[in-house]
Amino acid sequence: MPGQCGRVMFSTPFSSHVGRGEFTDVYDPAEDTFLLMDALEKDVNEIRKLCCTDINPLAAACSVESARCNGVNIQPIITDLVTGLMPRLQNQVDVLIFNPPYVVTPSEEIGGHGIEASWAGGERGREVMDRLFPQVSALLSSQGLFYLVTIQENNPEEIIQSLKSSSLKGTVLISRQAGREHLSVLKFWKA
Ligand SMILES: C[S@@+](CC[C@H](N)C(=O)[O-])C[C@H]1O[C@@H](n2cnc3c(N)ncnc32)[C@H](O)[C@@H]1O
Repeated sequence: MPGQCGRVMFSTPFSSHVGRGEFTDVYDPAEDTFLLMDALEKDVNEIRKLCCTDINPLAAACSVESARCNGVNIQPIITDLVTGLMPRLQNQVDVLIFNPPYVVTPSEEIGGHGIEASWAGGERGREVMDRLFPQVSALLSSQGLFYLVTIQENNPEEIIQSLKSSSLKGTVLISRQAGREHLSVLKFWKA
């Protein structure tokens, strides 16, 4: 809805079902979620229709419930990152958004399909997101945008530098200190 100065502002979505009851093993929206929403609100005019994937089947079910509570319709795909979407979505994605498991953990913690998949990022917190990066350019349309949540330990500046080799330009869209985490949302587009 329009806010002051004509800027589009959204109210916080209903999410009281997340992280409890049948959705106990689903990531409860936190500071990273809200920073990502603030970043997307900045660019809302470029974002119209989204599909989503998750490796945690309960997170996918929870997303359906979240969508229902907020009056939208989504059909999540349970898969590892974007597996199964290529080549169908090659150069078709206008907006790609990833709030990845970014916490630095032992590599052995990666690979689960439960709540631990929400945070376990392995070495430098990069092991999951690094697997997506080589596919980003192939997925994005010519106008496509990629938004990524990071923390300082992920070395966001290095991510921006390394995606240049995939012909992607990037910038830090928004940053926020949240407790011990220095969160940033990075934004990339085709050079
Ligand atoms: C930090 S949580 C973010 C949840 C939610 N999108 C948000 O912003 O609040 C990370 C999410 O990524 C999912 N995930 C982790 N590894 C994945 C993978 N390899 N493929 C797809 N989803 C994955 C987790 O199950 C979890 O729901």
